[in-house]
Amino acid sequence: MAFRTIIEPFRVKSVEAIKFTTRDEREARLREAGYNVFQLHADDVLIDLLTDSGTGAMSSMQWAAIMQADESYAGSRSFYRFRDVVSDLTGFRHIIPTHQGRAAERILFHTVLQPGQIVPNNNHFDTTRANIEVEDAEAVDLVIPEGRIPSAVHPFKGNIDIAALERLLAERGDRVPLVMVTVTNNSGGGQPVSLENLRSVRRLCDRYRKPFFLDACRFAENAWFIKTREAGQGHRTPKEIAQEMFSLADGCTMSAKKDGLANIGGFLAMNDDGWAEAARNLLILTEGFPTYGGLAGYDLEAVARGLEEVVEEPYLHYRIRSTEYLGTKLTESGVPIIQPPGGHAIYIDARALLPEIPPLEYPGIALVNALYVAAGVRGVEIGTVMFGRHPDGSETPATMDLVRLAIPRRVYTQSHIDYVAEAVVDVAAGRARLAGYRITEAPAALRHFTARFEPLG
Ligand code: F0G
Repeated sequence: MAFRTIIEPFRVKSVEAIKFTTRDEREARLREAGYNVFQLHADDVLIDLLTDSGTGAMSSMQWAAIMQADESYAGSRSFYRFRDVVSDLTGFRHIIPTHQGRAAERILFHTVLQPGQIVPNNNHFDTTRANIEVEDAEAVDLVIPEGRIPSAVHPFKGNIDIAALERLLAERGDRVPLVMVTVTNNSGGGQPVSLENLRSVRRLCDRYRKPFFLDACRFAENAWFIKTREAGQGHRTPKEIAQEMFSLADGCTMSAKKDGLANIGGFLAMNDDGWAEAARNLLILTEGFPTYGGLAGYDLEAVARGLEEVVEEPYLHYRIRSTEYLGTKLTESGVPIIQPPGGHAIYIDARALLPEIPPLEYPGIALVNALYVAAGVRGVEIGTVMFGRHPDGSETPATMDLVRLAIPRRVYTQSHIDYVAEAVVDVAAGRARLAGYRITEAPAALRHFTARFEPLG
């Protein structure tokens, strides 16, 4: 088509009202929440960019599929439909449904990890890291150096550092039961991984005889970046690219709450018969029978249809462009963000924006809270609160202090995003008034969900 405007590739059939609150109300709600936006009542949030996980809008076709679901305990027709879609996409022999991504992670790692082992990844997401550490194993991040510098522009900033991975395999390979790569790299800014990088990982894994697993949550967004950025890939469909990505791996963990376009669901898939049998036995113990894995039949239907829709070009074109649209607006106003914009989210560099707030006073929390109070917009800190505390109880600054504005799929329109951009620019202009926080209460693991804070100064 000749026009430049990229429109939402859908029309709206059903709407949901959002609630406007006053600044005074938001200040009170945040105080009651212990200055932790995870503890807010979602009704008190106007535009919710906390996560793109499970927050997407389903299509009329997904809702229709839900009505056709089979709720049989064993051997449900909906399982076979789900299995066929996942196996067509991934090519893996064993498809094990789970209620979400972290359940797949727990089952995989509890099945294959021994204490003292090491799992490399470009960047482990927080639940992945926690599920490794709970087995007394070590989660090692080996993203390329550019991936650690917010302002560095690189087309595939999620790539794993192949030389560093090779060093790890050569020196401590006996302790590495599998290699993982996260596509796109959420903790590193929603940045894609190139096919070339995945092929190099495959070659290394062949050489050192290691299984290679993808954390595939955002595989379709990654495939779109490969199509639009990697030499020689422009003529292929996103699905063909995704199929090649999966074909390079021996298995994957997946949260269908992201690129499954569903509100719940996930799976663990792999080729190894022995690991799959052990995983299914654990699944039965903690998730459910292997043909439902903690999901309703209708969830399996929603995921199956979602996995078909997510690789459609008009959808991915709009999806990646709408994230970039917010990124461009913020960049033009001088707000430092991870460059280039990622697939599912914009990551504001809170450490760069608020240099007078030291990392251990949580500049990310200061920015998230200011944005909520100013505009009712909820983002999330991805920084020292999320990653700074170590299993031994010590605390150090995370590599970066970011604030993520994650964009739910097919939910908000361009004017919602215009409002978000205006709010962020307004908060950034008033940054001299922002102060840091201290933690008053926190659990030992995954503290960012429930920690309580107190403003400093
Ligand atoms: N891996 C990655 C890369 C993720 O982003 C997530 C979830 C998971 C695994 C776990 O999946 O939530 O279904 O158990 N990320 C969400 C987020 C929570 O907000 O980024 P889950």
